[in-house]
Amino acid sequence: MTYLDQRYLSESAWKPNLFQGKVVFVTGGAGSICRVQTEAMVLLGANAAIVGRNQQKTDDAAKDIQSLRKDAKVVSLPNVDVRDVKQLASAVAKTVQELGRIDFVIAGAAGNFLADFNHLSSNAFKSVIDIDLLGSFNTVKACFGELRKNKGAIIFVSATLHYYGVPFQIHVGAAKAGVDALSNALAVELGPLGIRSNCIAPGPIDDTEGMSRLARGGKERIIQKVPLQRMGTKQDIADATVYLFSPASSYVTGDVLVVDGGSWQVSQSAASHDYPVTLKKYFDAPKGGKL
Ligand code: HXC
Repeated sequence: MTYLDQRYLSESAWKPNLFQGKVVFVTGGAGSICRVQTEAMVLLGANAAIVGRNQQKTDDAAKDIQSLRKDAKVVSLPNVDVRDVKQLASAVAKTVQELGRIDFVIAGAAGNFLADFNHLSSNAFKSVIDIDLLGSFNTVKACFGELRKNKGAIIFVSATLHYYGVPFQIHVGAAKAGVDALSNALAVELGPLGIRSNCIAPGPIDDTEGMSRLARGGKERIIQKVPLQRMGTKQDIADATVYLFSPASSYVTGDVLVVDGGSWQVSQSAASHDYPVTLKKYFDAPKGGKL
């Protein structure tokens, strides 16, 4: 089963065939967010290769995504750990052999769990840094030849955790801060080669592995603190992805596109007063609105 379907072609803002003839290489492509990023790219004409650790999960996801478009090709690349650059290089070689090229790269493979500093071992910290940060570096390293040849574009899946100190997320915050820094430096170094590098920083996205691991307090409590008053959807991230790979963003590089309903802009003082529930009473008050 896929999350997106043919309605995306008629109801989204994008034109069909936007990515015809292009190929996207996605690490974490069988997971929740990156899988839907891939679905959108394939619906809009791209072929894809998805990298994962689990054979069954990766094969099933590739088959499902391929079913979205009649002439689509989606290559499954299982048993690849992004911590090993040689495994990634083999995955890239197989992609080029089967699909001919790579234009776009999504570095999305990530690891996460909640752990306080006292219970976070050095190896646990290293595991997440290695998957999220070293894995992102390795992904671009392995794809560099293709990106260079095709003047491609990179999207790193980052987060907003490192914009402040988030407890129990020391490892992920440190890793994602590194991912942002990696993307910024690549934008500067690779810009003259015509390669763009950007990050997407998802906020609270409904029905994802990340939320199921992290959101212990329930959805309602989260929504109360989101200015746009809803959870994000996987399509919100897919749409941001399409924008950043489309010609509409051809002058955008070294940027972080935060897709979080305005969540990270909420100050602690506002959040502690159950903003924006409290704020609503000011807008609903009978007086006011004077020019
Ligand atoms: C404390 C933990 C732990 C936990 C693992 N460890 N889970 N410590 N609390 N809950 C410790 C282990 O004890 C070990 O340390 C070290 O981490 C490595 O564990 P392994 O299981 O050997 O590593 P590995 O098999 O490589 O697994 C990596 C992993 C795992 C990150 C630990 O959770 C994983 O594979 N995750 C992939 C899927 C995933 O996390 N998806 C979520 C993506 S969502 P010791 O000292 O005992 O050797 C996401 C959102 C981010 O990333 C943004 C949020 C807003």
